[in-house]
Amino acid sequence: MNSLRPIGIIGTGKYVPERILTNSDLEKMVETNDEWIVSRTGIRERHIAAEHEATSDLAYQAAIKALDSAGMKAEDLELIIVATITPDTSFPSTACILQDKLGAKGAAAFDLSAACSGFVYSLATATSFLQTGMYNNALIIGADTLSRITDYTDRNTCVLFGDGAGAVVLGEVPQGRGFKSFDLGAEGAGGSLLKLEAGGSRLPASQQTLEEKKHFIYMNGREVFKFAVRVMGTATERVLEKAGLDKTDIDLFVPHQANIRIIQSAMQRLELSEDKCVINVDRYANTSAASIPLALVEAAEEGRMKEGDTVLMVGFGGGLTWGASVLVW
Ligand code: ACO
Repeated sequence: MNSLRPIGIIGTGKYVPERILTNSDLEKMVETNDEWIVSRTGIRERHIAAEHEATSDLAYQAAIKALDSAGMKAEDLELIIVATITPDTSFPSTACILQDKLGAKGAAAFDLSAACSGFVYSLATATSFLQTGMYNNALIIGADTLSRITDYTDRNTCVLFGDGAGAVVLGEVPQGRGFKSFDLGAEGAGGSLLKLEAGGSRLPASQQTLEEKKHFIYMNGREVFKFAVRVMGTATERVLEKAGLDKTDIDLFVPHQANIRIIQSAMQRLELSEDKCVINVDRYANTSAASIPLALVEAAEEGRMKEGDTVLMVGFGGGLTWGASVLVW
C-alpha cells in the first residue's frame, strides 16, 4: 500500500439534526429510565431528523462543510460514496440524489451498505480508487436516519439510536501521511442477530409485514455486544500490524460509538488513556454509518489531531461486519 500515491483526508464536515431526544423524553415513551440507559450504554441524548429531513439532506449539510474545508467546488468532485443503511429510496441511490443536490455533475456516485462499518468500508474503497489514479478525489459520507427504522415502543432498541452525517474529502497528501492500512471483514452467518427483515425482495412490504413490525431494526443486543468486543480487538490488532505499528503508536483512537462499555473494553485492551479516545456516544448515541465520521470530524474541529498523528478508526455493525483503518493525519 505504501508504494502507491498517498491518499488522505483533505476536508471534513458534519451535521446533526436540531431536535434532541433525551433519556427523560424516552422515559415518557417506554418503560426505561435515565440511570439504566446511562449505566448500560453511556447515552444521554440523541439527535432526531425533522419530518422533512431524509438521509440525503443530512448528507448534504455535512458534504458542503467538507467541501468548504477542503477548498473545493462540488463540480470538481470525481467520486461520491454514501455509506448508509437508511437510503432515501432503494433507488436512485442516496449518492446520486446527493450528487444532483450538490451539482457535482459527472461524478461517479454510489451507496455502500455495511451498516455501522460502512464509513470505513467506503474509505477503503475510495482510497483504492484514488491510489491507482482512477480518480483524483472523493467525497465520502457516512449518513443514517435510524429514527426512521426504529420502533419507539421497543425499549431494547429505541434508546440506542440517533441520526446524523459525517463527511470527508479524500485526495493526494504529502508522502508519509494518509491511510496506511485497512482491515475489513464480515461474518454473514451472524446476519440474523441484527437486521431489518422486510421491504426487500425476500419479504416485500405488505399489510402483514407492517402489522408484524418487520420494517424496524431487530437486534439481539447481547450477542452483538460479544461480537463487537471481540472484533474491535482483533481488527485493531490486525490493522496495526499491517501498518507495521504497535498499540503504543496510537495518538487518537476513533471507535464506533455504539456503547460506552464496548469502547472502554477496547481502550483497556489497547491500554489507552481517555485523552487518546474520542467519545461522543453520550450526545449522539449510535448513528450507524455516521458514528465514526461524526467522532473524527468533531475531534478535528476540536484540534485534537496534529499533522503526523496516528489515528486509528474501528467499527462493527450489521452484516455482521467490521472495519478498521490506520491514518497518519
Ligand atoms: N430500559 C430498561 N431496561 C431495559 C432496557 C431499557 N431501555 N432495554 C433492555 N432492558 C432490560 C432487558 O429487558 C433485560 O431485562 P431482563 O433481564 O428482565 O430480561 C435487562 O434490561 C438486561 O438486558 P441485557 O440485554 O442483558 O442488557 P445489556 O447490559 O446487554 O445491554 C444493550 C443491552 C445496551 C443493547 C447491549 O447489549 C448492547 O449495547 N449491545 C450491542 C448493541 C450494538 O452495538 N449494536 C450495534 C447496532 S448498530 C447497526 O449496525 C445498526
